[in-house]
Amino acid sequence: MTGGKGVLAADESPSTLEKRFKAIAVLSTEASRRDYRAVLLSTPRLNDAISGVILQDETIRQAIGGVPIPAWLEAQGIVPGIKVDGGTVDLAHFAGEKITQGLDGLRGRLAVYRQLGARFTKWRAVITVGEVLPTRACLAANARAMALFAARSQEAGLVPVVEPEVLMDGRHTLARCEEVTREALEVVFAALSEHRVSLEAMVLKTGMVLAGSDCPRQADVGTVAEVTLRCLRRAAPAAVGGILFLSGGQTEVAATVRLNAICAHHDPTWPLSFSFGRALQESALKAWQGLAANAGAAQAALRHRAGCNGLAVRGKYTAEAEQANEA
Ligand code: 13P
Repeated sequence: MTGGKGVLAADESPSTLEKRFKAIAVLSTEASRRDYRAVLLSTPRLNDAISGVILQDETIRQAIGGVPIPAWLEAQGIVPGIKVDGGTVDLAHFAGEKITQGLDGLRGRLAVYRQLGARFTKWRAVITVGEVLPTRACLAANARAMALFAARSQEAGLVPVVEPEVLMDGRHTLARCEEVTREALEVVFAALSEHRVSLEAMVLKTGMVLAGSDCPRQADVGTVAEVTLRCLRRAAPAAVGGILFLSGGQTEVAATVRLNAICAHHDPTWPLSFSFGRALQESALKAWQGLAANAGAAQAALRHRAGCNGLAVRGKYTAEAEQANEA
């Protein structure tokens, strides 16, 4: 949560990365996934605006030029983290809702990841918004799993990033997203408290409060910022070590513009920053196209996006900064 820096989420599972690679007609293999991550993580001056990277099981065991990736990041002053959840499955008896799996054997895996160099962990739950969703059962089951994950992580000396993501999919209004986000956070923090998770030693990763992507009425950026901060002030304890925003399917520029508007309020309650996946990688992935010759262009695209988000965290992002793209 260092000022002006954020976290690169590069923890797509092999099957998610396969989908992203399909869009650029690149075959997803262990080698091509490593090559892609190597391009991203060897971006010159990546640490100007990135202080942490979330890896996943395959990547944390890979190397760049013979250097294990966690050590590679450490050498640049970037903290390596690891996604430890096992993805989502349908929640039995609750159509359209998901539960995140991955608690079985977690203690052993955390010890291995720490040994491999991880210093923080991530667990993502997804909350679907619908007319009657989310159910209380879905919120409670996911919150319990997140609390157990966070407690286990702290026991292992790792900082948990707790991520209850309220999905943007759907026609719901901004007000409905605020209501669901607030309830989801309240249920999560009740479970964290029950499991004696140290709030100071954890990070919350959450979505911005936005109308559903199919809602005809989209709020202006100032309203998004105000409502997002209001919702977080109501539901996230001030003791929380920091809050990171996910991008959740927003375009790269929209995510940066909204992040800037939120951070421009300079709310002193918690440090705020970004932990984007798609909104940091989209242009870089397109520039790369699976070709080593395009590595420099992909890195320039990532450095530009990271730099713009670094400015946004300080509330200093401008249209001029967006234009000043070396890529
Ligand atoms: P997006 O920013 O693409 O939503 O991904 C962030 C993330 O880490 C989701 O778990």
